[in-house]
Amino acid sequence: ADAYPQVQRNNQFKKLSSDDLEYFKSILTKQEILYFGPDSDTKDLDPFNEDWMRKYKGQSHLVLKPKTVEKISLILNYCNEEKLAVVPQGGNTDLVGASVPVFDEIILSLNNLNKIRHFDPVSGILKCDAGVILENADNYLREQDHIFPLDLGAKGSCHVGGVCATNAGGLRLLRYGSLHGSVLGLEVVMPNGDIVDSMHSLRKDNTGYDLKQLFIGAEGTIGIITGVSILTQPKPKAINVSFLAVKDFESVQKVFVKAKNELAEILSAFEFMDKRAIQLTKKHIEKDTPFPLEEEYPFYVLIETSGSSKIHDDEKLETFLESAMESEVVVDGTIAQDNTELQNLWKWREMIPESSQCQGGVYKYDVSLPLKDLYSLVEVVNEKLTEANLLGDAPKPVIAAVGYGHIGDGNLHLNVATRLYSKEVEKVLEPFVYEYVSSKHGSISAEHGLGFQKKNYISYTKSEPEIKMMRDLKKHYDPNGIMNPYKFI
Ligand code: FAD
Ligand code: MLT
Ligand code: ZN
Repeated sequence: ADAYPQVQRNNQFKKLSSDDLEYFKSILTKQEILYFGPDSDTKDLDPFNEDWMRKYKGQSHLVLKPKTVEKISLILNYCNEEKLAVVPQGGNTDLVGASVPVFDEIILSLNNLNKIRHFDPVSGILKCDAGVILENADNYLREQDHIFPLDLGAKGSCHVGGVCATNAGGLRLLRYGSLHGSVLGLEVVMPNGDIVDSMHSLRKDNTGYDLKQLFIGAEGTIGIITGVSILTQPKPKAINVSFLAVKDFESVQKVFVKAKNELAEILSAFEFMDKRAIQLTKKHIEKDTPFPLEEEYPFYVLIETSGSSKIHDDEKLETFLESAMESEVVVDGTIAQDNTELQNLWKWREMIPESSQCQGGVYKYDVSLPLKDLYSLVEVVNEKLTEANLLGDAPKPVIAAVGYGHIGDGNLHLNVATRLYSKEVEKVLEPFVYEYVSSKHGSISAEHGLGFQKKNYISYTKSEPEIKMMRDLKKHYDPNGIMNPYKFI
């Protein structure tokens, strides 16, 4: 309770009793229960109670890891009857404090529900359990000449169900679209234990409300996703990655427009990062930058193309780069010559989250803004932190405020890397960042969700009637409020 003075435990929720534990033991095997308490073997449940950023920590004593959908149904039905609060958990890579308990909620982990169910190579439709790790799903698909239509830095840990529950965007949304489009069906266990099977394999189905959308991005507040049916994509035969330096944010936008026009159908990612993000990453991964830097450039972009013909794509990319350099929109750059170089270039982008977090902590803001205003937020925040005398060498708390993200999606990530989490820093950042985003008609969450971090800020993006509609839905499907309580709804 001391950790979160702004929220109180809801005493309508029952505290776990020995009878409850006995019930769970009667329906689950030993491998499906982790209990931390008197007489238990478990040392601690920290990996389940604590989030990836080490910013949020709950005090749950019980993790349930059922192996079947039927067991999940029994668990939820029991928890609903007994008013025991539950946090669904996938790979626990969430970045807004949504995947961990706030108090003593039971953690329902999908780790053991991890089978590929079916793949149809003609339609490209994959059906799998929610607990399949994203990278495992992708590796399986690659053997069948397909790829998962979503990729992100946490792929080695996050679950297929977890990315659906957060509606994660990732590195190739610009090419493959959002999960709201590629997910074709879900299997969900509702709080009362009902199993709703809508694992469709239909591209088109206009029979009333598109119910699966209710769970995509719901952050586990309505039901537990147990199965996912998703349209995958053919594996590209040719992939190129170039890493370019540009002189200002105006040029980042110019290169983006040029890439859309000239690389067109083969453009598969367009990412940007500022100098401070690269400096932070350089310090963390202790490598030389992708190309010798005569000077440090203010912005970098990573452009990926994916297509079916190497000769065609190479030619297109070379022509694009030549004219971009000639017109001085791009001032320096490199193209990966083989797969190792390609992976290395991606590393400079994918390691920014870890590099921002590893020296103590990170305040993360994941926002949508009109492209012309996108970077201004990073500049204003740097000014505010400098004015408040909080940014600089130790003992100042803030190491750097860096900007990067998915230009193609109008999605900025602002990471404020700190030596420690401090109320003083938080006060400068919040609600300022949310007010700023709202004043530009942006969204306070582009892709990471709201979770616990943004529970009080939803009205900066959603209107009152929208919030009421969300509350009505929540009340209807989860009348006892047991699903992921204390979060955004
Ligand atoms: P968890 O973290 O376990 O849970 C996330 C939320 O979903 C919680 O609210 C949880 O209660 C709920 N949940 C989980 N599983 C289920 C289920 N089966 N049914 C119902 N609810 C469930 N996000 C992006 O959008 N784009 C990125 O590029 C990106 N990159 C990342 C890189 C790194 C290094 C990290 C650490 C995170 C990144 N993320 C990114 C954050 C992203 O939200 C998560 O990686 C991912 O979506 C969460 O999946 P998970 O299985 O870990 O879910
Ligand atoms: C990313 O784009 O790298 C992810 O959204 C994760 C992050 O910003 O930390
Ligand atoms: Zn992102």
